[in-house]
Amino acid sequence: KLPVIIDCDPGHDDAVMLMLAVGSGLFDIKAITTSAGNQTQAKTLKNALKLKALLDVDIPIYKGCDKPLFRELIIADYVHGEMGMDGPILPEPVIEAEPLPAIEAIAKILTDSPEKVTLVPTGPLTNIATFLLAYPHLKSKIERISLMGGGAFRGNMTPTAEFNIYVDPEAAAVVFNAGVPITMCGLDVTHKALVFQEDIELFRAVGNKTGKVIAELMDFFSIFYRKERTELNGGAALHDPCAIAWLIDPSMFQSKACYVDVELTGKLTLGTTVVDFFDVLKKKPNVDFVYDIDRKKYIKLIYDSIQNLP
Ligand code: BDR
Ligand code: CA
Repeated sequence: KLPVIIDCDPGHDDAVMLMLAVGSGLFDIKAITTSAGNQTQAKTLKNALKLKALLDVDIPIYKGCDKPLFRELIIADYVHGEMGMDGPILPEPVIEAEPLPAIEAIAKILTDSPEKVTLVPTGPLTNIATFLLAYPHLKSKIERISLMGGGAFRGNMTPTAEFNIYVDPEAAAVVFNAGVPITMCGLDVTHKALVFQEDIELFRAVGNKTGKVIAELMDFFSIFYRKERTELNGGAALHDPCAIAWLIDPSMFQSKACYVDVELTGKLTLGTTVVDFFDVLKKKPNVDFVYDIDRKKYIKLIYDSIQNLP
């Protein structure tokens, strides 16, 4: 099993990402750390605890940073709702987060692990950047960072910037310049990783608790997409599970090794991932830039993983 630490801000698509990670049975999930993004840290942490209870897993959950490195937090309640994971009614968590802060937990896990560990961030990169700055010698223990964020040819917060990067661009710049192998599933691929109503009905028809919850999550999540992203023809962009799906089966995707950096000063382009797709800079690629997906295989992978869950 591939050892991973998942850093997320659940979040509807973060929730599906966790379900895929657990249900695939292919990962040794050493920890879940929570980022502030889709909602406040208090709410994303609570949602992670609810998911742990739902999936009945023994994965330690650690609370991450409350706000971006230098900026005020921007949340996406217009997509994810008041609680950050609105839709299904899940019981209030009785379990608690671990006492250790996320950054220290990541350091401890990497230090103790005999093998390199893959990091999977699907929210703003505040925790990962803070970790890299505080423990630079542990970079050698990171196998790869497979993240959801950014985009070469479109944005969703500004015309060119994607939410996770825009919320904490300085953190993103630290991560992209860390010298660690990165897989970037940005909007180029995630706006092709669509879930349609008929897929949602298939998830519901599995008949177990997780199938029902995932369908109710996607019902809520789709409201925003049908209203605000009519270009997607009724599909909702199921972003975050791409970062896990790529680790499971990269052959499902198209990617290109590219040099990528993050814009930190642009008047119109703050928080944009600048992807040198045509290698005009002749710089050493630091990112596997993922830009296409076999959508049917992706949905099937998620569908199959639900069967293995409670
Ligand atoms: C990203 O932003 C969040 O709203 C989603 O969970 C995803 O990680 C998409 O831009
Ligand atoms: Ca997310």
